Amino acid sequence: MTNQNETAIEPAPLGLTESQWEAIRALKPHSEAEIPTREDKQPTSIYLSDEHFDLEIQQLFKRVPVVVAPSCYLPEPGMSLPVDGYGVPMVVTRDSKGEIRAFLNACRHRGSKLVEGSEPVKSGRLSCPYHAWTYAMDGKLVGLPRAETFPSIKKCDMGLVPLQAYEAGGLIWVGMDHSQQPAMLDASDQLGADLDALGLKNMHVYGRRQYDLKANWKFVMEPFLEAYHIQRLHANSIASMFVDVPSVYRRIGHHQCQTSGKANFDPEILKGPVDNLHKYVTHAYLVFPNTVVITSPYYFSVMILMPRAKDRTIVEYYMLTRGPAESAKAEDLFRRSFELIHDVFGGEDFRAAELQQAAMCAGGIDEVYFGGMEEMIGPFHRSIESFLGQARGPGAHG
Ligand code: FES
Ligand SMILES: [Fe+2]
Repeated sequence: MTNQNETAIEPAPLGLTESQWEAIRALKPHSEAEIPTREDKQPTSIYLSDEHFDLEIQQLFKRVPVVVAPSCYLPEPGMSLPVDGYGVPMVVTRDSKGEIRAFLNACRHRGSKLVEGSEPVKSGRLSCPYHAWTYAMDGKLVGLPRAETFPSIKKCDMGLVPLQAYEAGGLIWVGMDHSQQPAMLDASDQLGADLDALGLKNMHVYGRRQYDLKANWKFVMEPFLEAYHIQRLHANSIASMFVDVPSVYRRIGHHQCQTSGKANFDPEILKGPVDNLHKYVTHAYLVFPNTVVITSPYYFSVMILMPRAKDRTIVEYYMLTRGPAESAKAEDLFRRSFELIHDVFGGEDFRAAELQQAAMCAGGIDEVYFGGMEEMIGPFHRSIESFLGQARGPGAHG
């Protein structure tokens, strides 16, 4: 009985990719794992300067597709979702053929916002609240009341302004600058294969929460790239489930994956049948530049960090489960998990980011340092730097 219930709430059975298995097989027993000793540092100006923030938006965020939502938040043709978090009003749709599309969320008549709110709706059409110009899910203008009063307007010229949109790895990606056609980054297909293997695209959004944080987006990202803080910042919450070691890191182009053995992990368990590997191993993906995917035994977390100012970040948190709760036991587990995430991510990781921003804004701290257990943070910053480098010019880094 217990087993049946548990099977119903676990994420999809694992058919992991070869590189995911390689990382898992490379995990050492806790007693044999060595902590790397590599050191790194960054100037604090990258978190504190308006100029640097503007450069990140122009050279990075407007030039690469960024994640706007998990695919399963928009599961059916005819659905639409307004996305405002990036500061660019967008509407994402799934057209009648099931393809993902994205547009500026602005009517071509007199520019009113077309779709209000922040939840997905199934409408089949997008109708402007002002004068009811109506658009199909592929952006074409299909309804124009009193069309005879616009003798020179051709409907075929007045579709919504399109944004480049992609769907890969169970995530929806959009290029937020309508004047550019950003292509997916190298190795995104490999990242997509990893996330597909985890079953992300067929999951279900159990809960979603938005956070408006007083912190630079990179301060918000960094705790999800290192395990150093877990035994310390999370000492009173989740620390007992984890250990300082071991972790295996992989670069996937600019994306990254950190595979970690939890406190109960021993390589011996891989020799026998494993009921739910997520109980023993955590996968944490940096979907470059600003999204995190983390596995847990009964749910996955997708977190999109949307930068709004050097010291402000909107975080969209999604908790994904295998499906809606089908029993009181599953509902209780999901509800408690959703609250735990709020307490741990919201009350501890996000709080730490806000504490850094609050303390550093006065100046006096010129550099921050990263040790061996924070070894993926350096490559994260160097990936960002590779986009900013050309525009910045020598010596401007501070
Ligand atoms: S502004 Fe949209 S119909 Fe007039
Ligand atoms: Fe954390």
